[in-house]
Amino acid sequence: MLAELFRYFTLRCPPWARLLGLTYEHVAITQRHRRVADAWAPHLEASKAAILAGAQRCRQRRRVLVIGAGDCRDVPVAELAALFDTVVLTDVVLGPELRRLAKRSGGKVQAQIWDATGVLPALAAGWRSLTGAEVEALFAKGDAGPPPGGESDLVVSANCLSQLGLVPAERLHGAAADDDLPARCAAAAARRHIRWLAARPGVRVLLADRARLDIDAQERELHRQPMPGMDRVRPPDRSWRWLLAPIPEWSPEFHRVHEVGAWIDGR
Ligand SMILES: C[S@@+](CC[C@H](N)C(=O)[O-])C[C@H]1O[C@@H](n2cnc3c(N)ncnc32)[C@H](O)[C@@H]1O
Repeated sequence: MLAELFRYFTLRCPPWARLLGLTYEHVAITQRHRRVADAWAPHLEASKAAILAGAQRCRQRRRVLVIGAGDCRDVPVAELAALFDTVVLTDVVLGPELRRLAKRSGGKVQAQIWDATGVLPALAAGWRSLTGAEVEALFAKGDAGPPPGGESDLVVSANCLSQLGLVPAERLHGAAADDDLPARCAAAAARRHIRWLAARPGVRVLLADRARLDIDAQERELHRQPMPGMDRVRPPDRSWRWLLAPIPEWSPEFHRVHEVGAWIDGR
């Protein structure tokens, strides 16, 4: 508890990120990784390998942009820095490790606050008054604008897709009376982000959850929930399972597992 509180105050983020629960979520992810690091290791390695496969496709390697960089557990920052002139790491919350990394790199690695949905400040401003339909429309039509630093040779969306609409929508007043609102917002934000990514001229690597599974100790699948917004997406180039919360982290009855995909497009 004390460690969580301490980390919370070391984070750099805009006030809207705290209001919309993104800072809390960042701390929760960091703490969970500390508890179950061994279980996450294969997923993190598979993510890094997919990013490097994307890097190999680039004809030029001037700049790489990472969206949802978090603490870069799943991003091979040193390898990218060796391949590209500039590495731009973005998130709505910047932890001290990322800031230190950028500072020590002498300008080669940059850490920037950037909202991939483009709507979070407006959502925070209207979080008491916006209706469910208005919020959903914000995510569906949101424009993140041009990528920070300009167009890049490689753009990586790093395991953040399922969170883009879900986490902020769960904090809204309207969510209390509308159980489906977070899932509808998650779907709208995911579809919008996928379109934004597809419009980038360079190589794109999308790392994203496809489904959430509950699996018991005997390896039987108890429940499968497709991730909102992934219904019209083509099959991934690579896929694997992420043991997000091994028994008893989430439940004494089942492991919480995510099916993850990697889509590598462009060039
Ligand atoms: C599951 S974590 C991804 C893991 C991260 N790549 C790492 O290795 O730590 C999801 C990340 O997406 C970020 N995120 C959530 N909403 C975002 C948004 N609208 N724009 C950019 N990043 C966002 C979160 O702050 C979090 O760091």
